[in-house]
Amino acid sequence: MTQELRPIKRVAISTGGGDAPGLNAVIRAAVLSGLKRGWEMYGIRDGFHGMLTPEQYPEGGIIRLTRDRVRGITHLGGTIIGTSNRNNPMRYPIVMPDGSKEEVDRTDEIVRAFALHGIDALITVGGDGSLEIGDVLAKKGLRVIAVPKTIDNDLDKTDVTFGFDSAVAFAVEGIDRLHSTAASHGRVMVVEVMGRYAGWIAVESGIAGSADIILIPEIPYDLSKVSQKIQEREQGGRFFTIVVVAEGAKPIGGKSSVVHKEAGRAERLGGIGEKVAAEIQEITGKETRVVVLGHLLRGGTPTAFDRVIALRFGAAAVRALEQGLSNVMVALDGQQMKFVPIEEAQGQMKSVPIDSDIIQTAKDLGISFCEPD
Ligand code: F6P
Repeated sequence: MTQELRPIKRVAISTGGGDAPGLNAVIRAAVLSGLKRGWEMYGIRDGFHGMLTPEQYPEGGIIRLTRDRVRGITHLGGTIIGTSNRNNPMRYPIVMPDGSKEEVDRTDEIVRAFALHGIDALITVGGDGSLEIGDVLAKKGLRVIAVPKTIDNDLDKTDVTFGFDSAVAFAVEGIDRLHSTAASHGRVMVVEVMGRYAGWIAVESGIAGSADIILIPEIPYDLSKVSQKIQEREQGGRFFTIVVVAEGAKPIGGKSSVVHKEAGRAERLGGIGEKVAAEIQEITGKETRVVVLGHLLRGGTPTAFDRVIALRFGAAAVRALEQGLSNVMVALDGQQMKFVPIEEAQGQMKSVPIDSDIIQTAKDLGISFCEPD
């Protein structure tokens, strides 16, 4: 992975996929670290759109990132250069003359755009989709360092991704607030959280927020166990129940609930909270309400933990380039920052291990995952 290459003068940063609190901290750390080494730093607008459709940007699809431009952004949610989770350059949808849609590979155009702008390297900040694109671009000759990002915490080969801690913190705040209203009305409150096909956000927020039931994709649930748990609580004099449901949760023998499918994009999950709430009300007769936290988990200011991880990732990406590395992802391993080949991290989803300490802890606390006997 170490290459004999011409010295770096210009580096471009791209943020792709769903935003996550901490993206701006990565940008700031990478820009300041790069400027310190005498490099020019740039940001590509909206994933790779700035390179593929520069005419759409009055200011240009690639913007210079100066010290001034990254001042005071560590605590800001979102990303100052924009992001996108549509129109993946590897499967770019185009409308054919007959009106039909086809997907084309536009990664060669990105490689040419790098040459045109004299940009020597790319720091791509994103989830699994961005890792896949980064791997392809590196194999086509670009110097690429990936920085893992997702609130879902489902990327392999890194202990944690920034954004996750902020998402969990917000979910816990929401669950905490629901306790008093649930108790006052003697209701069941179902809280749906994001996480795609992994239950990390649900498990951590459910434990921290003292949920009674947590439903995650890794442990398909048995509905009769959900009502059994609610009834057991009633018999014990606790007339309310808090249920945290991961958006990808599914019943035994069922599938995750998909609300939207579109070519070139990941499936959009949702609706499981409503479904579970309706079923609980029907079976138990208890008034049940649902709260979908959704994109609230992605917005707002990153926690101190996420800021530090994001700043460390951004600075480490620049050190990786300085060392001549390419096609690697920066990753946290305990307290150490390490570099792992992108292709080893890409395509590997990190689920919650069902035999893990965190699941056992939840069970010891009396939280039910409603698995069958
Ligand atoms: O991967 C991050 C994430 O927020 C998931 O938790 C969620 O399923 C998805 O993105 C939502 O994507 P969109 O913003 O496109 O609806």
